[in-house]
Amino acid sequence: QRIVVIGGGENAEHDVSLATATAVAQALRSGGFDVEELTIDRDGMWRRGADALGSQATSSLAAALSVIERADVVFPAVHGPSGEDGTLAALCALAHTPMVGSGLRAGAVGMDKWATKLVAEAVGIHTAPGRLVAAAEIADIEFETDVVVKPASAGSSFGVALARDVSQLHDALRCAARFDDRILIEDVVAGREIDVAVLREADGCRWASPPLEIHTDGLFDTQSKYDGSARFSVPADIDSADRAALTGAALRMFDALGCAGVARIDFFLTDYGPVLSELNTMPGMTAESQVPRMFAAAGLPYEQLVARLVDAATV
Ligand code: DAL
Ligand code: MG
Repeated sequence: QRIVVIGGGENAEHDVSLATATAVAQALRSGGFDVEELTIDRDGMWRRGADALGSQATSSLAAALSVIERADVVFPAVHGPSGEDGTLAALCALAHTPMVGSGLRAGAVGMDKWATKLVAEAVGIHTAPGRLVAAAEIADIEFETDVVVKPASAGSSFGVALARDVSQLHDALRCAARFDDRILIEDVVAGREIDVAVLREADGCRWASPPLEIHTDGLFDTQSKYDGSARFSVPADIDSADRAALTGAALRMFDALGCAGVARIDFFLTDYGPVLSELNTMPGMTAESQVPRMFAAAGLPYEQLVARLVDAATV
């Protein structure tokens, strides 16, 4: 089987996506797959391995599309906007090439933290009280209480900041506005940070991984996500009722959005149960990332996880 792994991308998570794509490609090669790597550079130009695709006569995208059309399966390992948000799923769908992971709808809704929140509340899952503001109106926002400010569509916590006073609030809003013109302002949730991953297998059945707890000194922000300072414990040390509540909520979100492949659903575990933080339809997938660690704890090693994702690819 010829698998095309796509990495990079035109957003702040470019390097994170390269790390995921490299790890996935390597795992697939050691599993015996024939792998080709496509990279989307920061400026949107595509490369195959080290070679630039396209010339003045043919566009880079057209050249990449012909590689995608000849693939048996595409593994789009691009986090964030113009990748995970359904863009690459749509490209594969138009090329009639089976791909790993969620389709356009789940990608687009999952990328948008406001839309995700509305779906969660509609299916009975709590989220932090919050509101959406347009970047154009941030100068008029008043400070009321401690909040977390987030771009509605971004990943790896880029543009996310905690604001404890009016000046921090305005700094945070300006920072978030660099990533999106829609900004989410949410009350701070006091709880343990717990992730659950859900995998949909080739037969259509899906199951949840053991929960993983994230331990950090402060916010689990962009820095602590990638500087190695965060510690994970998996399975998380929680009682069976909390585990059932988290797992049930993760599966409900996966189903509500109609996800495929793997998704990681992030929660705060509070005194009154799980509060959804967000859902990732193309979560970090290096061997050290949360999702592979969670499935490893369930007895599914990394190489087998990526092979199963390829088996479960859908058109
Ligand atoms: N957005 C990062 C890659 C994650 O969710 O793991
Ligand atoms: Mg995310």
